[in-house]
Amino acid sequence: MVGFGKIFKILLGCLSLLMVGVHAEIVNKSEVGSLPRELTFEVWLNQQSTRSIAGILQNVMPHGAFSASPSKQNPDYFYHWVRDSGLVIDKIRSLYTEAQDEEKQAFYKNILDKFIEFSRRLQLTENLSGGLGEPKFHIDGSPYNLSWGRPQHDGPALRAISLIKLAHHELAKKDGLQWVKSNLYDGKLPSNTLIKVDLEFISDHWRQSSFDLWEEIKGDHFYTRLVQRRALLDGAELADILGDLGAAFWYRLQARQLEIALQKHWNAKIATIVPTLHTTRDDRYKRAGLDSAVILAVLHAHHYSDTFFTLSDEKVLSTLRNIRKGFEKLYPINNHQNMAPAIGRYPEDSYDGYSSDQQGNPWTLAICAFAEFHYRLASEFMQKGVVQIGSIALPFFQELDTADLIHIKAGGHYQKNSREFDAIIRALRKTGDAYLERLKYHVPEDLSLAEQINKDKGYMQGAPDLAWSYLSFLTANEQRNILIGTKY
Ligand code: NOJ
Ligand code: NOJ
Repeated sequence: MVGFGKIFKILLGCLSLLMVGVHAEIVNKSEVGSLPRELTFEVWLNQQSTRSIAGILQNVMPHGAFSASPSKQNPDYFYHWVRDSGLVIDKIRSLYTEAQDEEKQAFYKNILDKFIEFSRRLQLTENLSGGLGEPKFHIDGSPYNLSWGRPQHDGPALRAISLIKLAHHELAKKDGLQWVKSNLYDGKLPSNTLIKVDLEFISDHWRQSSFDLWEEIKGDHFYTRLVQRRALLDGAELADILGDLGAAFWYRLQARQLEIALQKHWNAKIATIVPTLHTTRDDRYKRAGLDSAVILAVLHAHHYSDTFFTLSDEKVLSTLRNIRKGFEKLYPINNHQNMAPAIGRYPEDSYDGYSSDQQGNPWTLAICAFAEFHYRLASEFMQKGVVQIGSIALPFFQELDTADLIHIKAGGHYQKNSREFDAIIRALRKTGDAYLERLKYHVPEDLSLAEQINKDKGYMQGAPDLAWSYLSFLTANEQRNILIGTKY
């Protein structure tokens, strides 16, 4: 007798064959020349930017909730995640501050106002994490009461980092002070305003372990800690401006202590910043110690005048290089030449966008983050006016794609306008472009960006129209434009 399980498996097999068929058809369309990969790079960048802003706005609800993706099943991502929305709101902020006409300004300001109101309501909503560590809510703002990897402590930090930038923008205006005090930072204890409540939460809870940004593992995370530190330092600066001096002192004190904790993530034996310490999960999970979350941390916590774990830090460069190596041979689609490798979350990942007992795939947002990193690194070197190469980062530089670099060595000190400096900057830009070329190759006709890219066939899979995927493309392209603007 054929058991139900077997029939189910056969059905599933047919279904996935069918799916592969459908996708193969999409991939083959390239031959008739209608796919983005047929466009020139610059034309694609422009079209993808417009499409990505639309993709973000599609996830913005009129009452201030942001869905992670419009997908309501397989997978169900139609929730307001504190992390995703805390990142995405920064894009709305820059669209607002850069808008030329008043109508556009009012449009984006309305989204910001609604988001602030909605997020404040969430801060007051009872939930199973018992505080601000609740990772996601229903779109109507009610708590999600099923089991989940909770608490997660990065969300309030990301939200604060984004909104502190908005506060500074508004403070520069005539009536800005009053607006900031009543909507974002009242300087009171207990506070009734979004940013101040987030900062108080971070400064009181950063020592507690929490789930990571991938919602899978409890422990102390480099990502969570680095963005917490950034939020506290930016928060202290705002607190100073608003006369909340005691708080500014307290936030800075916590940030300094976070630094001591963060240094411990460096593992000299494998020359890598490890993503998580003090976890109880068995060590087959992430045994390589490699996780793109570390690169995301450096990007999301970046501040132009801060050198702590900044992009050019040799520990960061070595980590990035090792992560890249970890993915290079992992995915069959990486066998294509002339393109940067597709990057995923971590090599041992078993979440394929639908279920967790599969082999993981490359992620759109990780590929874009690698592109963004190289552009930003080039800009950082330009700003510093020198590239110094230590032994830890030497492999990173040696593997850059340029023949001009064969002579670089540890201890090298290359000033702006030297042959080596120029070669490094050019190689970084080329590498950034190679990651975006990689993405371009996998983008479907309608330019929609999903969470993942199938590691064998190259089509998009997992949550469709993921707001964070669109965001990651936009921030990468923005950094590319900044670098190009410096005329290199
Ligand atoms: C959904 C999470 O968001 C994802 O990060 C995770 O890998 C899977 N669930 C499996 O736990
Ligand atoms: C899964 C990711 O692992 C997590 O970081 C994200 O917040 C959710 N998906 C929603 O996009």
